[in-house]
Amino acid sequence: MYKITFIAFFVSLSVFSQSEKYRLIINDDPATSGTIAWHQPISSIGSSILYYGTEDFGSDWNSYPNSQEADRTSLAQQMHTKFVRLTNLQPNTAYYFVLRNPITNVTSERMFFKTLPNDQSRLSFVAGGDSRTDGTPDVFANRDARLNANRMVAKVKPHAIFFGGDFTFADTPTEWDYWLDDWQLTISDEGQLFGIVPARGNHEFNPSTVYDLFDVPTSDSYYAITFGNNLVRAYTLNSEISVAGDQALWLENDLQENNADQCWTLAQYHTPIRPHESGKTENDDQYDAWAGLFYEHGVDLVFESDSHMVKTTKALKPDVNGELGFSEDPINGTYYVGEGCWGAPTRNNDDDKEWTLASGSFNQIKWVWVDCERIEMRTIMTDNAEEVASLGDNIFEEPDNIELWNPESIGEVLVIQNQALSNPDFVKTNVAVYPNPFKGILNVEVPSILEKVNITLYDINGRLILNETKKVIKGSFTINTTTISNGMVFLRISTTRGQAIATKKLLKE
Ligand SMILES: [Fe+2]
Repeated sequence: MYKITFIAFFVSLSVFSQSEKYRLIINDDPATSGTIAWHQPISSIGSSILYYGTEDFGSDWNSYPNSQEADRTSLAQQMHTKFVRLTNLQPNTAYYFVLRNPITNVTSERMFFKTLPNDQSRLSFVAGGDSRTDGTPDVFANRDARLNANRMVAKVKPHAIFFGGDFTFADTPTEWDYWLDDWQLTISDEGQLFGIVPARGNHEFNPSTVYDLFDVPTSDSYYAITFGNNLVRAYTLNSEISVAGDQALWLENDLQENNADQCWTLAQYHTPIRPHESGKTENDDQYDAWAGLFYEHGVDLVFESDSHMVKTTKALKPDVNGELGFSEDPINGTYYVGEGCWGAPTRNNDDDKEWTLASGSFNQIKWVWVDCERIEMRTIMTDNAEEVASLGDNIFEEPDNIELWNPESIGEVLVIQNQALSNPDFVKTNVAVYPNPFKGILNVEVPSILEKVNITLYDINGRLILNETKKVIKGSFTINTTTISNGMVFLRISTTRGQAIATKKLLKE
């Protein structure tokens, strides 16, 4: 009798003391911080401690040099969610960790995540939203589509996941229980977690769900994150509260303060300003509060959700004479893409506008590669996730068997060139080469958003006499021309991806 009781007690300790439902959340500088969250059953004894370091000690918790207890515990959706907010981390570094309950000695599997680079090296993002079920009491209904989208995340290993809301149908504890379990499929086979940047949708009925389950920076769930060294500033907005007032004021101030320094500005929120499914109403309040700010401050790409179909617009500017208040501006406009399809039942794409590039209806996530010179956006059709190969160290290639949307009007890749570099007036006023005529050292000034440029010098006969990659420091660099013969030369400056910036005719004396 004694023995049986003891075994039963021990088993219950193990089961109810385990940490589970792991996620990595990006809610601050992703180069130096990261928040690890997990579910600790309310009935559990003790609370897990995170043991971590930059060396992989597997599940040998005692060998990790650092440990941290939860910084916050939330009680929501009938669970305790623990958050460890790691700060002062090294950029571009893998951090290995385990969770161990000191009372029960239950230790998790070893997992890891990577802090992001703090320079302007290229990043890979996934964006999407609407992973909810179809609303029947069966919480498993149409869950496969969501599982596949989650699996796809683990295969393409993004630097960040923008999730635009409508996680579950009714925001209930049971549904969140499944959703968080399903999210474990976004963890790679090697145990790598990828950081989520969550937004609130209209199915997050409780205004604090996103804050309580993801520890976003504000309880109103709108905030901005900078990626890399001013590579991207990404705004997460909340379409489910007043979109004007404080939120618009904050957005305007933040754009004014930060946007000019960034290569790119992105935004995500749940309900589209101009939905492309006929059952949805126009969101004029968002148009009034945000579209003008996006255009005025050069927001390049916006992720919308909610309609459960797929769309990509042209680059748009607000225009009272355009259809539903928009018309195309290929140089300074904002691309609006979406709308949902992370597993929620798909709807028809039956409300295209004259400025819609393409639309469709299938399960999908956006896959976005960003460096300072350009954005490449692909739309991954997620249903065949199980057949898709996992990417290795190079995450900027298409894995075997991946299915990409290929509409005639776009092709598989939407390319957005850095508008500043594509704008001849901008380049003209920001490129200078002096002195001219020159003797030894040539000084060159280029737009300060560039980190590196390629330079080529040709003589009057078109012969290549110099070909170098130059590091740009605060918008300038020098060229040593002592080995070059006197006479007329042509200097061509281009980005490291070959985009022409300027050509200058110069005289060596
Ligand atoms: Fe929605």
